[in-house]
Amino acid sequence: MPDIEKGTFQERQQAHMQANRALWDELTNIHSRSSFYDVGGFKKGKSTLSPIEVGEVSDVRGKLLLHLQCHFGLDTISWARMGAKATGVDFSERAITLARKLARETGSDAKFICANVYDIPQLVNVTFDLVFTSYGALCWLPDVRRWAKTVAQFVKPGGTFYIVDFHPFTNLFVNNKDARDFQVAYSYFHSAEPAEEQMEGSYADPNARVRNTSRQWTHSLSDIVNALLGAGLRIQFLHEFPYCTYAHFPFLKEGPDGLWRVPGRRKVPLLFSIKAVRDGPPAVTMLKPAVQARSK
Ligand SMILES: C[S@@+](CC[C@H](N)C(=O)[O-])C[C@H]1O[C@@H](n2cnc3c(N)ncnc32)[C@H](O)[C@@H]1O
Repeated sequence: MPDIEKGTFQERQQAHMQANRALWDELTNIHSRSSFYDVGGFKKGKSTLSPIEVGEVSDVRGKLLLHLQCHFGLDTISWARMGAKATGVDFSERAITLARKLARETGSDAKFICANVYDIPQLVNVTFDLVFTSYGALCWLPDVRRWAKTVAQFVKPGGTFYIVDFHPFTNLFVNNKDARDFQVAYSYFHSAEPAEEQMEGSYADPNARVRNTSRQWTHSLSDIVNALLGAGLRIQFLHEFPYCTYAHFPFLKEGPDGLWRVPGRRKVPLLFSIKAVRDGPPAVTMLKPAVQARSK
């Protein structure tokens, strides 16, 4: 493992991401056994997608779909079950090995690539109808503008990019299993150096012992929006949700609709989603041949 304290800025970011990769290899083992991911139920046909993304992404039947940061592939295979020709990408080798195994076991034609998001251009030379990423993706990426450029380059002209992720506002607060209410501990705005933490359990198993530390970056909503605009995508909508698909903080309460909210009257933004399109080249208009100057 390179020494994170030394080296150029680029090398340090690379080293942080390498440390995160070790963490995600470790978390893959923990998550694949967790009731949160319920691999048994998934193998019997349960979808892991939430009504939020299913409702906001249009029909995926027959669409070429690229799923970034797919973890061990449950959402990717769920999209494939809905008719998409899906490819998942994640930098954790353990996650991708498991994703491929699950695809084989469930007879899915979903494909998987092991790569850092930033390196995909070196490996993939096709474009997609839909580029998708979700729940806990951006906080692992040091550079949101470079991410947006990468994303945009894989959206075909006329194709769509969709993200649903934790609202950056939630990054402000302490989030461990003892948290009883919001307690500000972090900055809202981006800083080049990540927050490094020894994790106490994970979202999928709060009691798990996790050895590796996590390195996370925050990106404000304006940074995310401006990065996508700067990459040439046209934003169709930005939505903010006062609920979450699971107990992202231990004090959230589940409603009858299966969504989790802050109890009481406070409506706090917990998720956001963005749908954007890459406009095709303008329709070619046939130019009339220049009128020949009449010779006198
Ligand atoms: C919170 S998980 C995504 C969860 C996913 N929505 C799910 O529920 O299965 C974040 C994923 O991002 C991956 N990841 C983090 N940094 C990455 C990077 N730089 N390139 C590719 N994958 C990365 C991790 O390996 C992990 O699988």
